Amino acid sequence: MRAWQYSSNGGGITPNLRLNTNAAVPTVKASKEMLIRVLAVGLNPVDHRPAESILYPFAISKPATPGTDFAGEVVQGPANDLFQKGDVVFGSAKNIFAGGMLADYGIANTDHAISIGPLSPTDAAAIPIAGLTAYQSIFPRIKPNRRIFINGGSGGTGTFGIQIAKAMGHKVTVSCSSRNAELCRSLGAEVIDYTEGLLLHDLKEAAKVRKFDLVLDNVFTNPELYWKAHEYTSEGAPYIVLPFNMTASFMVPFLSMKLLPRFMGGGQRTLTQIFGQPKLEQLEQIRDWVTEKRVKVVLDQVVPFEQTKQAFERLTSGRTVGKIVVGVAEASATKSKSV
Ligand SMILES: NC(=O)c1ccc[n+]([C@@H]2O[C@H](COP(=O)([O-])OP(=O)(O)OC[C@H]3O[C@@H](n4cnc5c(N)ncnc54)[C@H](OP(=O)(O)O)[C@@H]3O)[C@@H](O)[C@H]2O)c1
Repeated sequence: MRAWQYSSNGGGITPNLRLNTNAAVPTVKASKEMLIRVLAVGLNPVDHRPAESILYPFAISKPATPGTDFAGEVVQGPANDLFQKGDVVFGSAKNIFAGGMLADYGIANTDHAISIGPLSPTDAAAIPIAGLTAYQSIFPRIKPNRRIFINGGSGGTGTFGIQIAKAMGHKVTVSCSSRNAELCRSLGAEVIDYTEGLLLHDLKEAAKVRKFDLVLDNVFTNPELYWKAHEYTSEGAPYIVLPFNMTASFMVPFLSMKLLPRFMGGGQRTLTQIFGQPKLEQLEQIRDWVTEKRVKVVLDQVVPFEQTKQAFERLTSGRTVGKIVVGVAEASATKSKSV
């Protein structure tokens, strides 16, 4: 089969990606596993960041194939009979660090996948990590009809975050650059252009009308937003952080925010780092919202399989607007709408 592979992370994985046209088809090894003919793969920062970190020698066997979020056809069903051969499913790969889906075939686990319903493989593959992480950042943490600030509204988690927050009945303000302002507004958010350099000031002004009840920080490059969060959020508002890097520039501010107690000048809001979990009932909810057109999948670009390397160049630029999806194959005509 064809598979994109890398065996070195020198200079990042993007320059090391090679298309192997003679890779072995993976085999099912556990009862919940199923062999998938991959139709589409949605890209996320997790598809390159662990491979470029100190996890590389331990968590990823080489040659490695990236690609976590997928839509595809079941070729060999799991022993638990949850899916049959020919069903079309979407979800995340068995192992989020190892990926494995940027290939003609990959292994999925029934704990991490659901039926595609009426969605297209492209839309479905774009959802899992970004959609679920946005959902879990908001859903259990605040009561309905609250005000949310999303730092970074135009990327994968941001575009889902705006719409999921709206679907849950919240009022949303985001930061984004001027070029993405219209998009964020069209998804239902009020917009602050961070490139004007007045983000904190504008948040405090907005809070004079109504304070924010939750902050979802998709960017985490401006520590002041956390240290001064009490000036624009309500008492007890959670400050949720999505990025995580094992670099000094990330860990030093992150740990001081996490560990410094209030009485020693620490932050006045609880900072929580979250890692998205493959909760299938939540994935079903997002699939249903997309089906009902209450949530729209925003696509930066859909590229053919052969252009995966260019897709990674775009992904690693940090400028993605919505999601990048790699088209791997066409669905079989009779099975593309299976539920
Ligand atoms: N913890 C988890 O489970 C989890 C899950 C998913 C993602 N994440 C992390 O969350 C972060 C966001 O992920 P993602 O997939 O949404 O990333 P993404 O799609 O690559 O985000 C790119 C977007 O961020 C915008 N942006 C860049 N700098 C910004 C700034 N200073 N202020 C506001 N917007 C800015 C960019 O637009 P402009 O450049 O035009 O502003 C672009 O639209 C990443 O660090 C990712 O690793 C964590």
